[in-house]
Amino acid sequence: MAENQNPAAGNAPAKPKPAAPGAAKPAAPGAAKPAAPAAAKPQAPKAAAAPSGVYKPPVDRTDANPYKNNRVGALGAWFQERFYVIMPILDYLKKKEVPKHRLSFWYYFGGLGLFFFMIQIVTGLLLLQYYKPTEASAFSSFVFIQKEVPFGWLIRQIHAWSANLMIMMLFIHMFSTFFMKSYRKPRELMWVSGFLLLVLSLGFGFTGYLLPWNELAFFATQVGTEVPKVAPGGAFLVEILRGGPEVSGETLTRMFSLHVVLLPGLVLLVLTAHLTLVQILGTSAPIGYKEAGLIKGYDKFFPTFLAKDGIGWMLGFALLVYLAAVFPWEIGVKADPLASAPVGIKPEWYFWAQFQLLKDFKFEGGELLAIVLFTIGGGFWMLVPFFDRQASKEQRSPIFTIIGLLVLAFLLVNTYRVYAEYSALAH
Ligand code: HEM
Repeated sequence: MAENQNPAAGNAPAKPKPAAPGAAKPAAPGAAKPAAPAAAKPQAPKAAAAPSGVYKPPVDRTDANPYKNNRVGALGAWFQERFYVIMPILDYLKKKEVPKHRLSFWYYFGGLGLFFFMIQIVTGLLLLQYYKPTEASAFSSFVFIQKEVPFGWLIRQIHAWSANLMIMMLFIHMFSTFFMKSYRKPRELMWVSGFLLLVLSLGFGFTGYLLPWNELAFFATQVGTEVPKVAPGGAFLVEILRGGPEVSGETLTRMFSLHVVLLPGLVLLVLTAHLTLVQILGTSAPIGYKEAGLIKGYDKFFPTFLAKDGIGWMLGFALLVYLAAVFPWEIGVKADPLASAPVGIKPEWYFWAQFQLLKDFKFEGGELLAIVLFTIGGGFWMLVPFFDRQASKEQRSPIFTIIGLLVLAFLLVNTYRVYAEYSALAH
């Protein structure tokens, strides 16, 4: 047998005649095999065109490694032999198509959220090289990063701004997928995993806020970790969050470990599920668009849509650097647990709506009621794909559009109320 001969080609005559479809028959066992001349290139027998749905044995498939016989240097060959395994993944990405229509613009916000999340990982790792998570040194290590470390100020500002932009992108992404009813069957778990990602991202914001150990963060964390107290068993939860009855160095240790270990681990797990589902199920089009002829075409996800995503990322990065350089976040003054709380303590903007709700419910038992309402509302929102039966049948569901508008209005109005009240206090 000729060297390098492919087992499938072993039985092949030197110049096989193309067989008429359906005419090829496997050689009878024991039949004389025509020997291939040593010089002849082995060729796989042309498989008879199998009727669709019939299993094709692996020998009939085209070689999975298209680079196998390429003429490259030893190093190139080494890489090609190992990395051809990513070819099926790229082929898979090429299969995904993104519909083009007048609302396609909103498809970019999930990718932008992902971009800012990646920036968080990189800048967070850099900050970790200098940050010291103790009551005595947390604040001074921030001052050191900001004033002494080369480009430390830029990395810190980018981390702080990118966190805010990421959460903003996630809210836009969530509401755009909500109004396009992208959560409908079979994408329910995309929505649920996305919702969990938003909750985890808010957790990042909450735990990160205390890390500079400045006055504002200290008292805001005191107010924030106090919230569960009014619920039954809530005092226990408060102690778990704080690592004791009050906000202290123990709280800083907890927030730090949640921020740099537990939350990133959970986000990576859930994000993998979310993005895998996006690839497997593909991007949805709004209800009725296909039937009404409103789809103008499709972009291949790889490389076309990904390249367009890349343009969005570059714009996002330019905005990020601009904000970081022109509107730096203050470090403030070091936290003093014995001092009285300064006026105007409020959480980060993405908690303002809940904060305002708690302020509005300041009557007897009101705070508990607000927590219960918010928990039920959050649960309903997370499970909305399972309630919206109309959308799952590809029928419009105006009631859910109205619910979405009410939720959006609640968030915007309450957020604005906190903004208006506290900016008046500041002047
Ligand atoms: C770290 C957070 C998140 C990242 C990185 C992320 C990323 C993505 C990406 C890249 C896509 C595909 C492109 C697109 O449609 O924008 C997508 C789709 C989707 N995401 Fe997210 N997402 C996140 C959070 C969320 C949240 C908070 C929700 C809603 C609660 C959500 C729900 C969805 C849904 C339903 C789709 C399918 C869209 C469709 O098929 O049309 N995601 N996500």
